[in-house]
Amino acid sequence: MTAITHRHGSDKPDPTTFGPGSEERLDRSDRFYELTHRHIVEWLAPGTGSRVLDAGCGTAGFTELLAESVGDGVHVDAADTSKHLLEYNRSRFADDPIGKRIRFHEAPIQDLPFEDGAFNLVWSSRAVHHLADQLTGVRELARVVAPGGRLAIREGGVAARFMPTTMDLTGTGLNERLADAMESWFASHVHFAEDAVPYPYGWAQLLRDAGMTDITARTFVHEFLPPFSELQQSFLLGGLTRWATDESRKDYLPAADRSALRRLVDPDDAEYVFNRPDLHFIEGITVYVGTGA
Ligand SMILES: C[S@@+](CC[C@H](N)C(=O)[O-])C[C@H]1O[C@@H](n2cnc3c(N)ncnc32)[C@H](O)[C@@H]1O
Repeated sequence: MTAITHRHGSDKPDPTTFGPGSEERLDRSDRFYELTHRHIVEWLAPGTGSRVLDAGCGTAGFTELLAESVGDGVHVDAADTSKHLLEYNRSRFADDPIGKRIRFHEAPIQDLPFEDGAFNLVWSSRAVHHLADQLTGVRELARVVAPGGRLAIREGGVAARFMPTTMDLTGTGLNERLADAMESWFASHVHFAEDAVPYPYGWAQLLRDAGMTDITARTFVHEFLPPFSELQQSFLLGGLTRWATDESRKDYLPAADRSALRRLVDPDDAEYVFNRPDLHFIEGITVYVGTGA
């Protein structure tokens, strides 16, 4: 099975394939969410000596926090299908005492090179939604969870927003239109691929159908007010700029919103979004957890 599938025919690099250039965006995301990630790791509390897997690790910012928490001399495994990101991680962590605890594997979630029940905790963040057949993928994640161990997936949640409900330039509802556009754009790139096996229920049910028990969900609120740091601004600007200018996204957002966004992201424009004093970033990051049978 293909790791990631998409049906559009553009020559431009597909932002869902995680090749060269994607490390910058994912790294920035690791740093943007770091505080909340730390809260999640504290809550998951894998415990010293736990056997932990991060499946679809990206630039491994979260893996690093997991490696910190399992203690010295214990390895954390991290799998991803992007050769590029794995190379990037290996060189980034070569001289890092915590990073050296991570063993990177080029392996797809749907075919993991580990024994049944190998891990006390399997973590997978924002990777399962890339799979053409999510149920098969999550069954494979469940296979490597030890009896009584946990599978935790970060998916879904409450869409990020940081602009006020009403702005003179855009009227009401831009945050919601952006969140809707994101869902539809993503679905057209991944979920409607020719070889997709659609899974028609929510994330908790997906864990249940994969054989996990005692399913729980917890949502962590990532939230901050101005002044936004340079990192926060560049992360948010990156997102808005993609919606303002990417050709592949133009059919998903009204043209008037796209032109408004072009002004909002322009530091020389009077409407530059970070000139506003009334911003408030808020996002709900949901983690679904199931226990291995
Ligand atoms: C949106 S990124 C998330 C990265 C990181 N877990 C995070 O939350 O920031 C999705 C990651 O999943 C990886 N990925 C996509 N399909 C995969 C598959 N079938 N098996 C393993 N990794 C996969 C991508 O290469 C990418 O690193």
